[in-house]
Amino acid sequence: MTTTDLDPRPDGQPATTGLPLVIAHRGNSSVAPENTLAALESAWRVGADVIEIDLQLTADGVAVVIHDETVDRTTNGAGRVDRLTAAQVADLDAGDWFSDHFGGQRVPTGEDLLAFFVAHPPICLLAEFKGPWGTEEVRQVTDAVDLMGLADRMVVQSFDVATVEALRAAAPELPRGLLVDELPEDLLALCRELRVMTLNPSGRLLRREPDLVDALHGEGLRTMVWTLDEPAHWAAAVAAGVDGIITDRPDRLRGWLAAR
Ligand code: G3P
Ligand code: CA
Repeated sequence: MTTTDLDPRPDGQPATTGLPLVIAHRGNSSVAPENTLAALESAWRVGADVIEIDLQLTADGVAVVIHDETVDRTTNGAGRVDRLTAAQVADLDAGDWFSDHFGGQRVPTGEDLLAFFVAHPPICLLAEFKGPWGTEEVRQVTDAVDLMGLADRMVVQSFDVATVEALRAAAPELPRGLLVDELPEDLLALCRELRVMTLNPSGRLLRREPDLVDALHGEGLRTMVWTLDEPAHWAAAVAAGVDGIITDRPDRLRGWLAAR
């Protein structure tokens, strides 16, 4: 199984059905606190093909798994991630806000994240780098991916074009994705320049641009749409021919696809 052909199945069966990959958004984030090891474990157990997570940098330059620019919404702390040290972030509770049951969950570091994937084959990782990262900054993650033997189970992506360029410079061999919510001026030329493997649009954009999937496939590109949680939206995405559906409900999407 590799993410180069995006053909992973936790049960070892090839995904040759033509159905899209089930991609757990921030882990199984509808039942566990997003971007925690509990949410990742749940996504793995319910048979997601891929787990999507978000990476940000602390004040002392350590990659941590958290979506927002601040820790306010998803931890018991306050303040911008890039103004807190890794030690300060490590002290925060990242589960209690979601429910008592998850008290004690932490904000994983990039190292915790990769260790999880080493211990949970063959699920794949879709890692979103939030905001601007330089080449040396992304290298702490991409070098560790290489060392830990995860390169064939990982796709890196960002909304930030300069970050995608930094990822290309640091780890040209890692499959890359560009996230978009609006169509850039010359989308296909940009994809070619960045040498991305996948262009990942919002569901809103895909609804507005129904020919986008065919145009991307015509260029040899993949596409994984975000973040779709309802069967009617899954049905439209399947009809459009997307390669992956990013969802907060990977357990339901897995069941829905199985029932088709
Ligand atoms: O991977 C796509 C999706 O996660 C992008 O939006 O805000 O949930 O990170 P957001
Ligand atoms: Ca994300």
